[in-house]
Amino acid sequence: MNLLDLYIDPDIKRASTLPSSIYTDADFYKETLEKIFATSWQVIEIDPDQKSNIFPFILLDGSLDEPLILVNADGQWKCMSNVCTHRGNILVTEAGKYSNIICGYHGKCFDINGHYKSMPAFEGAVDFPSTKDNLPELELEHLGPMQFASIASDEDFKTIAGPMLERMSWFPFSELTLSPELSNTYVVDVNWALYCENYLEGFHIPFVHEQLNKALKFSEYTTEVFDYCNLQVGVAREGEPFFQLPEGHVDHGKKIMAYYWWLFPNTMINIYTWGVSLNIVKPKGIGKTEIVFKTYLLPGIEKDQAISDDLKNTEMEDEQIVSNVQIGVKSRFYTQGRFSPRMEKGVHHFQQLLVKYLQQ
Ligand code: FES
Ligand SMILES: [Fe+2]
Repeated sequence: MNLLDLYIDPDIKRASTLPSSIYTDADFYKETLEKIFATSWQVIEIDPDQKSNIFPFILLDGSLDEPLILVNADGQWKCMSNVCTHRGNILVTEAGKYSNIICGYHGKCFDINGHYKSMPAFEGAVDFPSTKDNLPELELEHLGPMQFASIASDEDFKTIAGPMLERMSWFPFSELTLSPELSNTYVVDVNWALYCENYLEGFHIPFVHEQLNKALKFSEYTTEVFDYCNLQVGVAREGEPFFQLPEGHVDHGKKIMAYYWWLFPNTMINIYTWGVSLNIVKPKGIGKTEIVFKTYLLPGIEKDQAISDDLKNTEMEDEQIVSNVQIGVKSRFYTQGRFSPRMEKGVHHFQQLLVKYLQQ
């Protein structure tokens, strides 16, 4: 597939979807990882505790596989490379309380800010040490307990998530706490983009999600598109919980049950009256995707299994349908389709962004 041939008409009424080979082509997948994922903002999955100050993790294990550390340097959070600047050994293998970072291969030493401190047997080395001997640091942002890092972002986090931060400025993100009991991880045999596209339209709700459809007023379901994120708004039916929105807010007076935010390329932040369901869509291969569901509760909300069960039911229904689509897109009879101008704005937006990044 020639990436330069990809085209999405900006007019959704005229546009056709991308060719189905985007879900199955190995070269396309490889380009996607480097051009989209390696330059994007990603959720840091680990949940730091008080016992340690350095937490090793792999950013997008199974695709980017970037070894990193999250560091609490006297209350200031940092994210850095976990690779020794000498010959590439992994520095930290276990979370713990460290006062220095000492490489277990030849003893190179860094302070917890990642700055070079010492190295045995380097007397006489010219131009040493230099700034290249420090550990590279990543940009890091947080939204309540959720932390985001970028290896090499083209855009800052505010450019990506700004519309969400503004629209949700009344929501107490800082009061959220993770509920590991209500969190889950799923693995599905589908391409990551197919999973995202399914998320990005509520068009399928009446067909696929019987229970969810009973709670939402489908006729009032809307999608709004911004530069690098988009929003689906679910309005509650009679008797269902909804947000009490502050006066003057753009949605004041509406009975909003959920805000479904998607951040380019693979993060979903679903905001409910009880808290947040964060979904991280992790590519694990061309046809394999892991979806990490993290559930964060607001204060005073009980760890109610029903919260997790409802999310899980919807997830199972989505997995079933996208697994069918993954088979369908391989058909010799299917190449591309068209968009519903009213219901598939989010998918159209997603595919436009894919093309934009892949052609850079
Ligand atoms: S690789 Fe770390 S000191 Fe040699
Ligand atoms: Fe769905």
